[in-house]
Amino acid sequence: MDRIVKIGIIGCGGIANGKHMPALKKIPNVRMIAFCDVIPERAEKAAREYGEPDAKVYTDYRELLKNPDVEVVHVLTPNREHADITVDALYAGKHVMCEKPMAKTAADARRMVEAAKATGKKLTIGYQHRQKPQSRYAKQYIETGALGEIYYANCLAIRRRGTPNWGVFLNEEEQGGGPIIDIATHSLDLTLYLMNNYEPKMVLGKTHKKLEHPEAGNIWGDNGVSTTPLEEAACAMIVMKNGATILLETSWALNTIEPVQEGSCVLCGSRAGLQIKNNNLVINRVELDRQVKEEVDVSAGGVAFYDGAKVTPAETEAKNWIKAIVEDTDPVVLPEQALVVSEILEAIYVSSKTGKPVVFD
Ligand SMILES: NC(=O)c1ccc[n+]([C@@H]2O[C@H](COP(=O)([O-])OP(=O)(O)OC[C@H]3O[C@@H](n4cnc5c(N)ncnc54)[C@H](O)[C@@H]3O)[C@@H](O)[C@H]2O)c1
Repeated sequence: MDRIVKIGIIGCGGIANGKHMPALKKIPNVRMIAFCDVIPERAEKAAREYGEPDAKVYTDYRELLKNPDVEVVHVLTPNREHADITVDALYAGKHVMCEKPMAKTAADARRMVEAAKATGKKLTIGYQHRQKPQSRYAKQYIETGALGEIYYANCLAIRRRGTPNWGVFLNEEEQGGGPIIDIATHSLDLTLYLMNNYEPKMVLGKTHKKLEHPEAGNIWGDNGVSTTPLEEAACAMIVMKNGATILLETSWALNTIEPVQEGSCVLCGSRAGLQIKNNNLVINRVELDRQVKEEVDVSAGGVAFYDGAKVTPAETEAKNWIKAIVEDTDPVVLPEQALVVSEILEAIYVSSKTGKPVVFD
C-alpha cells in the first residue's frame, strides 16, 4: 500500500477545478488537506468538494505553507504569482507542481529551478500534453531510433477564433502575454520533449496583432477581446545548437484554414517522421519504395485501451507526479526542461520587439 501524500492547493479557480482536484481525488493515497484562494468562497467550496473533513482553508498562501502536514503544494494561480509562490513553497520544504507556463519571465523560471536545486525538493510543471497516449506512444517510438535524427520540426498551437477572455487571461501584467505564453508553451514543451533537445542557439520571432475585429466569431464572445493589447498570433524560427530547426506557429485568432491545432507538432527525422495533430498520431516513412502513413490507434485494444479511453492526461499527470514523490524519482517534466521552454518563448517576444534574432550562449 502506498503511503499517504497530503496536498495543499493554492489557487482554486478554473484549472484547479477542471484538472487538478478531480484528478488527485481519484488517487487512493492522496489527501487534499489545505486549500488557499484570495477569494475565500473558492477555497471553501474546493475544501467542501475535494477536501478531507478537517481540511483547512486559507486566503494567504504563506499561512498554508506553515502547515507542517502539507507535503506537496499545487500552484494554480495566474502566471505572475507562479515564481514567488513556488520559491516560497520549496523553501518551506514542500514539493511543488506548478501550472504552465512555468513563470511570466525566464528570470522567474530560473529562480524556481535554483530554489528546487537549493532545497532538494521536487518541482514539476503542468505540461499535460506529454501525458496524452499519443505523446507517450510517440516518445517510446522515437526512443527506438525509428525516426533517426530529428532535424526539422513544426510546433503548432493554433486557434482560428479562440481568445480566452475570462479570469485574467487578457491581463498582460498577470499573464505576461497571449497565445505564445498560454498555448505555444504546451506545444513547444511537447516538441522539445519528443526531440529530446534542450539546447537552443537562436530564435527569430514576430508577434502579430492585425485583425480588424478580433472579437467577431470568438468562440467565447468579446468580453475584452476587442481591446486587449496582447498578441493574437506569432511565428518563430528556432535553431538548435545541433542544427535542428523548429518552426513555431501560434494564435488565439488568425484567418487560417485549420480551426484548431493544439498540443500539435510535426517531427521529421533522417529515417521517418511523425505528426501529432490534436489527438491524432500519424507516422510516415518510406517502405518498398513507397510512401507509407500509419495512424496509431491509442483509443482501443490492449493496454492502450486503458490509457486512451479510460484515463485522462490530467489523471496520468497526477498519478505520475504522486508516484515520483512516493518513490523519490524524477517527475516526468523536469524544471530545467520547462526553463528552456520559458527562455525560448521569451526570446520570441524580445526578437519581435527588437527586430533581431536572440542568440543564446
Ligand atoms: N494546463 C493547462 O492546460 C491549463 C489550462 C488553463 C489554465 N492553466 C494555467 O493555470 C493557471 C490558473 O489559470 P485558471 O484558468 O485556473 O485561472 P483562474 O483565474 O480561473 O484561477 C486562478 C485562481 O487563483 C486565485 N489566486 C490569484 N492569486 C492568488 C494568490 N496569491 N493566492 C491564492 N490564490 C490566488 C484566483 O482568485 C483564482 O481563483 C494559469 O497559470 C494558467 O496558465 C493551465
